[in-house]
Amino acid sequence: MAAEPIVLFDDGHHKCLMFDSLVTGEGVQSNQFLIVDGKHEALIDPGGDLTYTPLSVAASRYMNIRDMDYVFASHQDPDIIGAIDRWIVHTRAKIVTSRLWARFLPHLVSSYVTNQLSGSVYDRIVSIPDAGANVKFGDSFLQCLPAHFMHSVGNLQFYDPVSKILFSGDLGASLGGEDDHLPVKDFDKHIPSMIGFHRRYIASQKVCRLWANMVREMDVAMIVPQHGKRFEGPVMVDRFLNWVSDMECGIDLMTQDNYRRPVDYV
Ligand SMILES: [Fe+2]
Ligand SMILES: [Fe+2]
Repeated sequence: MAAEPIVLFDDGHHKCLMFDSLVTGEGVQSNQFLIVDGKHEALIDPGGDLTYTPLSVAASRYMNIRDMDYVFASHQDPDIIGAIDRWIVHTRAKIVTSRLWARFLPHLVSSYVTNQLSGSVYDRIVSIPDAGANVKFGDSFLQCLPAHFMHSVGNLQFYDPVSKILFSGDLGASLGGEDDHLPVKDFDKHIPSMIGFHRRYIASQKVCRLWANMVREMDVAMIVPQHGKRFEGPVMVDRFLNWVSDMECGIDLMTQDNYRRPVDYV
């Protein structure tokens, strides 16, 4: 675990920083991302209350976070956007998410916070259609890619054309490994820390294959998931795309045994 953010990319003007060790205690290890382009800032999948304070302090090194441009949320989970109320009240950031979740996210914001806002929470949400969209950011843009059913029904991934990093959300996630601040070194040894999560959380092989076809046509230097280690360089990116395309998961594996009335008590 690294206390300081990991610099994934930095050309002096454009930076991609990853925090891998802000979640402590019961929460699952998660990575949060800060993208800086000159005087513009965006967060990707910043998480919940546990990570709000350290992330806002880190972001304050580059600008007054009140003026932060965006918070990108790949989907609706608590480890992704649980602290939406705090980002909404303490910054002017727009929350970018799938249109499937745009009307549900305001449920996370209390009336206490809503009353402090001049407009409605919904006015602060940029709702991305199923086809995805490019969102202008600083001198560049961030590309919201469709990643439906991986794992959420309305799921986005975020591609940064400057760094060529694909922020893949829960796809490629690994759990229970060590040294999550380092990239994957040995792909075969890494598979056991990914397989259980993907079999249960990702919907089907069909969507993985369709997604991999899209990504193979892109210029991707690095795939960085929201949990665990990242895949750096063309060889590792290719290995991940092949692995995820060949993996049966989700509804591919369901049988009648998964749908029986329980007899046990918890
Ligand atoms: Fe999730
Ligand atoms: Fe997650």
